[in-house]
Amino acid sequence: MEHSFWHSKWQKNEIGFHEPKGNALLVKHAQYLLGTMPNSARIFVPLCGKTRDIAWLLSQGASVVGAELSEVAVTQLFEELGEAPSISQTPTGKIFHKENLTVFVGDIFKLTANDIGAVTGVYDRAALVALPDAMRSLYASHIVEITESAPQLIVSFEYDQSRMPGPPFSVNEATVESLYGDTYVITRLERSVLEGKLKGKVDADNLVFHLKGNS
Ligand SMILES: C[S@@+](CC[C@H](N)C(=O)[O-])C[C@H]1O[C@@H](n2cnc3c(N)ncnc32)[C@H](O)[C@@H]1O
Repeated sequence: MEHSFWHSKWQKNEIGFHEPKGNALLVKHAQYLLGTMPNSARIFVPLCGKTRDIAWLLSQGASVVGAELSEVAVTQLFEELGEAPSISQTPTGKIFHKENLTVFVGDIFKLTANDIGAVTGVYDRAALVALPDAMRSLYASHIVEITESAPQLIVSFEYDQSRMPGPPFSVNEATVESLYGDTYVITRLERSVLEGKLKGKVDADNLVFHLKGNS
């Protein structure tokens, strides 16, 4: 999608993807992301929006690094956390920071491994599925590069793409395998019916994957 598509969604508050209570599948499968010592976890959340999952990860003791195009989203994220961030300007965009949370505002494709620093895991909910097919392999290799192949927890949807245009796009197990199979051992942790359907219209399944380094 063009950047203008997402900027417009945030400007108009058309954010049906946002889950005010956070994502239950993160809580259910968190051990794959946080391990046994959440206090030592530093989790990268690509395309983070203002997800409440960040509040939950912080509440578990993890540090979080986010990346989000929209400054509207990041401003609301901190407001809803009740935190006043320090904001710094870099050549590639602003950085919002408060204690264990750092969020880069701007195009994720401009971020480097050096920018985000070492992370112990990647939490992708509605990131891969937000991207059209043509961008996904570029995105996947970029994530592998900037996180130095950190393990991932991916929450995606599978549905009949002919019934609805994305986003969210359908990202099934074969797609995850084709994007990440060379880098990770991929385990599907869950397939379950999406309650209330996608956008209330289309039958869909939730899929959750754990991606672990294969070396
Ligand atoms: C479907 S939303 C998901 C947000 C969040 N992960 C959640 O679960 O609520 C996708 C988000 O990706 C952001 N985004 C899209 N393209 C981006 C890019 N190139 N760099 C950074 N963020 C981007 C959008 O602004 C939007 O907030």
